[in-house]
This record gives sequence, structure tokens and C-alpha cells, in this order.
Amino acid sequence: MSKILVTGGCGYIGSHTIVDLIENGYELISVDNNSRSTPAMLHGAEQITGKKIKNYKVDLCNFDDTHAIFQENKDISGIIHFAAYKAVGESVGEPLLYYENNIASLVNLLKCVQEFQTPYFVFSSSCSVYGNTAEIPVTETTPLMPPESPYGATKQMGEQIISDFAKSTSIPCILLRYFNPAGAHPSTIIGEMPLGQPSNLVPVITQTAIGKIKKMTVFGTDYDTRDGSCIRDFIHVCDLAHAHTLALKYLEQNKNKSLSEIFNLGTGNGVTVLEAIQAFEKVSGLQLNFEKGARRPGDVVAIYANNDLAKKQLGWETKYHLDDIMLTAWKWEQKMKEEASLMKSQSPELN
Ligand code: WQD
Repeated sequence: MSKILVTGGCGYIGSHTIVDLIENGYELISVDNNSRSTPAMLHGAEQITGKKIKNYKVDLCNFDDTHAIFQENKDISGIIHFAAYKAVGESVGEPLLYYENNIASLVNLLKCVQEFQTPYFVFSSSCSVYGNTAEIPVTETTPLMPPESPYGATKQMGEQIISDFAKSTSIPCILLRYFNPAGAHPSTIIGEMPLGQPSNLVPVITQTAIGKIKKMTVFGTDYDTRDGSCIRDFIHVCDLAHAHTLALKYLEQNKNKSLSEIFNLGTGNGVTVLEAIQAFEKVSGLQLNFEKGARRPGDVVAIYANNDLAKKQLGWETKYHLDDIMLTAWKWEQKMKEEASLMKSQSPELN
């Protein structure tokens, strides 16, 4: 049985991918220092799969600690690298935090991949590498514009580092460009659990609906789009997770055409921010409390995917639609509220 190392395994996409990998027969270990995640997500993945999952609470920016994991696990047959900071807005205010964390951790990991000759490497990239391109929907060969945020810059650099690494080592790598991951596992046992104030649209919507956020703001309704708000491609986290399993199988079956291949992981449907809010209101039956505000620095106006290559090469098909995203996200938000209330009732001293 192939043993996969998943970095960021306690994170949103990492935990959902771990569920999909286990359901597809993989054994795995997680590496996550929980700086932006909670072990609860991995416990949820264990509950869904019935499998125990080992997590190494290690900062990948520490080479020695990272190296020790490879020393202890000589049978790692592939790596999926999720661990990174990913808030576009935050990266604009704290670029060095993003460059240090996202790049140093990647280089340390690749040094170990090279030393221990790990056969495959799958990288969590992002549609933010395209920048403010006018060519939408974007294909994998759409020229990359200057990134609109330091976050996007770290993903562009990451892709370049990995591409050079693959050529120099002949270790095949795959770069998966996510669009906007959202939604929760249908079991409502795991989902997106932002630590502190969320920055992504869908958790902001559900936290507004549940009352954690009093009123949300639509960042800009004066863009040159059909309703003035930005356009994004919201992809269900479970569809995204399954693409990672298919990417590993693609490499294991030596189907890759070159040493580093790129795939867009989006639905191909562009949805405006206001349309996303309307979709949530439709599935929840609630009226969302929001106001129209100023643009957010670092935002691209519109981006959505041409996903033909992933469909053709990986055999990937999306199963979930925008309504499923909003419904699973909403059910997950309500579940988190119930659990918080239960905790409070069982531990009155915490009130
Ligand atoms: C989406 C739209 C906001 C919050 C994300 C991830 C990034 C990468 C790409 C995977 C924008 C608007 C948001 C709010 C709003 N994903 N918005 N009010 O910036 O597209 O980037 O997807 O790698 O990691 O961060 O996502 O959800 O922050 O914003 O109006 O309160 O929603 O302005 O137009 P973004 P987002």
C-alpha cells in the first residue's frame, strides 16, 4: 500500500484530501504544526474513515525537524504539499511572513524529496498565479500576469522552484491550481474552520448567517462585470480532494507527459460575489445582512477555469454544484454552533 506524506493535513483541503486518499486505499501520515489549523480536523477525518492518522507537529521551515520525518518514514511513496499561508488580504499587509513561510518550507521539503528520492510530488498551487488576466476562462497555458498579492507571488515562485527541481532531479511533479475551494464534507464531520476572523467569502457568508459576523461587506461592486462584483470559480472541497487522488494515480501509472505538469482545478463556471450570496440565500431560506463596500487590495476582477485538461488527463469530473457548496457550508456552520453550545453547557466555567 502506497504511503503518502500530506503536509497541512489538519487544514481544510488537507483533511478532506486525506479522507479521499484513505477511501481510495492509501496509507498516509500528516505533517502540520497547527499554526493555522486544529487537530480536530484530523480527528474528524479519522471518524469518517475509521482509520488512525499520525500527525507530525512540525514546522516545515525547520529543516532538521522535517528531515527527521523522512528518516523515520523511508517508505514514503508520494507527497502532497498543502501547508502554506493562503489569505490574499493578509499577504498584502505581511509579505515577509508569506515569503518566509511559503517558500522556506517548500525548499526544505524538496531537499528531503531529493535526498530520499521520494517518487512523486503534488503541489497545492492556486489560480492566483494568473493575476489579473483578461484571458478568461484561463487554461494552463494562459500567460501568467504579475501576481496581485504576495500570496499569489509565493505560488508563482513555488511553481517555478518545483519545475526547475523536477527537471534537475527527474522526479515527476504535478502542480494543481485551485480556484476557490468552498463547502464541507457531506457528513458535516469536517469543513472549513477558519481560526479567528475568516477572509474567504463562503465562511464569511455562513458566519454572517449564523450571527458570528453582524454584517458582511461585499468588497467592490464597481468592477466591470455583469453585476459589478468580482467573479470567481467556487469548487467544492470534496471535488478538489478527489483530484489529488487522481493526480497521484496518474503519476503512479506513469501517464505523465512531462516532469512537471499543471492542472486547473475549477468548475469552469464563473460566479459573481453577489450571485454567490443569492445562491446561499436560496438554499438557506435566509436573507443575508450585507453592505456594498470598497474594493479589497489584492483582488483580481474575474477568474475562472477552463478545466478540460484535468478532465481529459486525470479523468476528473466535478460532482458538486454551487448550491451543494452553499448547503454543505451552511450545515457545517450550524454544526459548529451546536458543538460550541454543547461545550458551553458541559463546561459552564468556560462561559
Ligand atoms: C473571493 C471574493 C473578495 C470576503 C482565494 C483564497 C486563495 C486561493 C484563491 C486557493 C473576492 C470577495 C470576500 C468578504 C467579499 N485559493 N469577498 N467579502 O481572494 O479569491 O482567494 O481563492 O489557493 O487561497 O484565498 O478568495 O474568498 O477571499 O474572495 O466581498 O468578506 O469574495 O473581494 O472578490 P480569493 P476570497
